[in-house]
Amino acid sequence: MTESRHDLFTTAGRLAQFHERRDAARAGDERGIAAQRGRGKQTARERLTALLDEGSFQELDEFARHDNTRFGMASKRPDGDGVITGLGTIDGRTVAVFAHDFTVLGGSLAEANGRKIVKVQELALKLGCPIIGINDSGGARIQEGVASIALFAEIFRRNVHSSGVVPQISLIMGPSAGGAVYSPALTDFTVMVDKTSHMFITGPDVIKTVTGEEVGFEELGGGHTHNTVSGNAHYLASDEQDALDYVRDLLSFLPQNNMDTDAAEAAAADLTPTEEDLALDALIPDSANQPYDILDVIGAVVDDGDVLQVQELFAPNIVTGFARVEGRPVGIIANQPMQLAGTLDINASEKAARFVRTCDAFGLPILTFVDVPGFLPGTEQEWGGIIRRGAKLIYAYGEATVPLITVITRKAYGGAYCVMGSKQLGADLNLAWPTGQIAVMGAQGAANILYRRQLKAAEENGEDVEAVRAKLIEEYEEELLNPYLAAEAGYIDAVIAPSETRARIVRGLRALRNKRAELPPRRHGNIPL
Ligand code: HXC
Repeated sequence: MTESRHDLFTTAGRLAQFHERRDAARAGDERGIAAQRGRGKQTARERLTALLDEGSFQELDEFARHDNTRFGMASKRPDGDGVITGLGTIDGRTVAVFAHDFTVLGGSLAEANGRKIVKVQELALKLGCPIIGINDSGGARIQEGVASIALFAEIFRRNVHSSGVVPQISLIMGPSAGGAVYSPALTDFTVMVDKTSHMFITGPDVIKTVTGEEVGFEELGGGHTHNTVSGNAHYLASDEQDALDYVRDLLSFLPQNNMDTDAAEAAAADLTPTEEDLALDALIPDSANQPYDILDVIGAVVDDGDVLQVQELFAPNIVTGFARVEGRPVGIIANQPMQLAGTLDINASEKAARFVRTCDAFGLPILTFVDVPGFLPGTEQEWGGIIRRGAKLIYAYGEATVPLITVITRKAYGGAYCVMGSKQLGADLNLAWPTGQIAVMGAQGAANILYRRQLKAAEENGEDVEAVRAKLIEEYEEELLNPYLAAEAGYIDAVIAPSETRARIVRGLRALRNKRAELPPRRHGNIPL
């Protein structure tokens, strides 16, 4: 701090000094800010202003500074130390926030600003409010050595302890390098901005030195890569405002914390069938191999047809997202017949498993829509660990204690039947449309196994093998590919007309409002990872 120009023996002098210091702390470094804008990015302060309700931000630790004197750092001690932290509100609800300021030492994390983040993490836990982090950081501040990496570990530990207690959301709005990637990875949702955000453990230069591989920032860890290939991100925002809007939307579906019970009574839905409800009666194509858009089903069931998808670009063969029924938030999981025929693969299993656990942690009922021909076959899947990784989805449904309603619209074959919120895994209400096909496998595969001898005999007798096969398939379809065998045995609860789906779900959710379910006491389960 430089010597004051004010008379500090007077109250007026002290106030003048305070305003001067605070204004300077908030103004930031002009050159750095210009460079930040030049990269198409807002400043950390502008981002928080855009994220929070107007005038709601209460900053904390704005005068915090490091006391490192090595590597010429004694002359680089800006107020705030490159991270802005505090409390604010979004739609009137309290949230804790922190935002890395790339204009200060590349937003790098060190002791003083690390402690600021830890403080708001602990506040969020104590207050039971969501915490949102805006990342724009070169990772651990190299000049501070062990202090930087130690503070990363402190932050990670708080991330872990907050997991499933308060919602944690990460925005990536610039580089997020080295240690800066792991805090987002431990949070519930990660939102990236297209073209201006990058996440990587080691950058292109290190990769080239160590492996010889040449790759650019965008391909290595840009928003598109993490939304479509790695699955590390949950939303690809077109720009910073879009990212902030998505987070505000997302929060509207989440409770403040895991103990928060939504007491608000929503307006009762009119359950008279609408045109949209009735249209579902004609949605399923006559041919079982023809796709349809599962979003049409979801849209007809939820309030105003609105669904906020999560990981929309990753494993699109399964849809995960939030919606409302009678005003109350629900999680949606649905096979998408338009993509890979709705099969379950490793990515889809992990995407859905994570989503089930997020909903269960925060008390959100789950609606599951099933049209799944099975797990995706192939060595890539088997060697990639579909057994271990597909098991995550079984585990997630099996341990979920929130209300679970499952609707089988068409195929529910084999292991995939079990996995997709089956009654036997613990779902509360399992419904099937008359077009439902609940069986060990589809007709083609079954005919080849069941009727192998008959088909061989037909061939030896010089009969038309394909005609025989078609007849046998037809028999199998008539006998087994329907929902009635499951309904007769009570493996599902009801067969309903598609147009009755919304009404049955609304009534089901009403009945399940006070569901009580508990798992046996244990230290914690051991989900296959
Ligand atoms: C100190 C850093 C820094 C860091 C950037 N800066 N990263 N200072 N520690 N980790 C500083 C730069 O020196 C520069 O200062 C300013 O921030 C802006 O950086 P530029 O390189 O000019 O910006 P740009 O070209 O946009 O590149 C951004 C970047 C690059 C891609 C993030 O800076 C970079 O690669 N940084 C290092 C990333 C990294 O390897 N981090 C891993 C740290 S190890 P001046 O004064 O010149 O403006 C780690 C391990 C933790 O995090 C483990 C926990 C699990």
